[in-house]
Amino acid sequence: MTTAKLASLMARGTEFLGCETAILCGAMSWVSERHLVSAISNAGGFGVIACGAMTPELLDAEIAATKALTAKPFGVNLITMHPQLFDLIAVCARHDVSHVVLAGGLPPKGSIEAIKANGAKLICFAPALALAKKLVRSGVDALVVEGMEAGGHIGPVATSVLAQEILPEMAEQVPVFVAGGIGRGEAIAAYLEMGAAGVQLGTRFACASESIAHPAFKKAFFRASARDAIASVQIDPRLPVIPVRSLKNAGMENFTAKQREVANLLDQGAVDMMEAQLQIEHFWAGALRRAVIDGDVEGGSLMAGQSVGMVTKEEPVADIIAELMVQAATALERRAA
Ligand SMILES: Cc1cc2nc3c(=O)[nH]c(=O)nc-3n(C[C@H](O)[C@H](O)[C@H](O)COP(=O)(O)O)c2cc1C
Repeated sequence: MTTAKLASLMARGTEFLGCETAILCGAMSWVSERHLVSAISNAGGFGVIACGAMTPELLDAEIAATKALTAKPFGVNLITMHPQLFDLIAVCARHDVSHVVLAGGLPPKGSIEAIKANGAKLICFAPALALAKKLVRSGVDALVVEGMEAGGHIGPVATSVLAQEILPEMAEQVPVFVAGGIGRGEAIAAYLEMGAAGVQLGTRFACASESIAHPAFKKAFFRASARDAIASVQIDPRLPVIPVRSLKNAGMENFTAKQREVANLLDQGAVDMMEAQLQIEHFWAGALRRAVIDGDVEGGSLMAGQSVGMVTKEEPVADIIAELMVQAATALERRAA
C-alpha cells in the first residue's frame, strides 16, 4: 500500500528517466565514472556520467565502458563552458545517450536543439523561478532544483526555499527533481509530496562500495559532520569565486591566503586583472582529482554537501537506494495513519 503510494508519487520521474526509482545520482567529477554510474542504474536508480573537462575521445570511451556494465539507461552531464561542447553532444548522439544534463549556466545558443535533435531528453539546473520558466520555454524537458546545501559548485539559496518557490509553479509543466542536502528517505517523501518528480543525491553516493574514490577521501567523509562541509568564500570583489562546498581542510585555508596574495599583487600593479583571475582559477585546477584519485585530503578539494554527516560507512549502492526507499515509504505510511 505505502510502497504503492511511493511508486505513484515517483511515477512521473521513473517514466521520464526510464528506471525503477526516481533517484538520480548527480554527476560528480572524477567520482561518477563507469563503475558508480552503472552500479546506480543497475540498482534501479539513474546514474549520470560526469564529463567535466574530459575530451570527446575520453567521453566516448567512458560511455562505451558504462554501456558494457549496464543495459539500463544512464545520463551524461556536460558543462556549458566546455570549449568542445558541441563535439561532446555529438559523442552522446552517436551513443544514443537517452538523457543529457547540462550544468554550468544557461545553455549556449544552438545547444538545446543539438541535444534534442537525436531524441535525447535535456535536463537543466534551475537556480531561480524566472530561469526555470525561461528554460522550459526554450524546450528543456526537466529541471533540477539544487540548493546551497549541496556538494560542489553552489548557488546562494537553500533547497527548501527553491523547492517552495519552483515546485508549485513548474511541477505540472515538466518533471522537477530536487537536489541538495538530501540524506534520508523522509526528505525524499517530503519533496515528492510537494510535487517533485524525484530527487538527485550526490554526497550520499560518493563513498559507496562501487565508487572509485580513494580510501582516504572516503574516510574523510565518514568522519565529517554537516558543519565541516563549508562554502569557499570570495575575499575580493575584483576576483570572482564561484562558491564550492567542500570539507574544511588546509587547501581551503590556502585558497583564502592565495586570494589575499593575488589581491595584493593587483594593488601593487604587479599583475593585470586577467592574470590575477587566472591565478585564482588555476588554484583549484586538479584539486578535486588530487583528493578523489590520489587521496590528498589536505591539499585537495573534498567536495561534499551538508548531508555528509549522514554518510557513515561504505555500502553498496543497492543498499543505499533500498534504505532510502524504505525510509520514504515508512514516512508516507506514518502520514497516512
Ligand atoms: C564530489 C562532488 C563532485 C561534483 N561534481 C559535479 C559536476 O561535475 N557536475 C555537476 O553538475 N554537479 C556536480 N556535483 C553536484 C552533484 O551532482 C549533486 O547535484 C549534488 O551532490 C547534490 O547535492 P548533495 O551533495 O547534497 O547530495 C558534485 C558533487 C560532489 C559531492
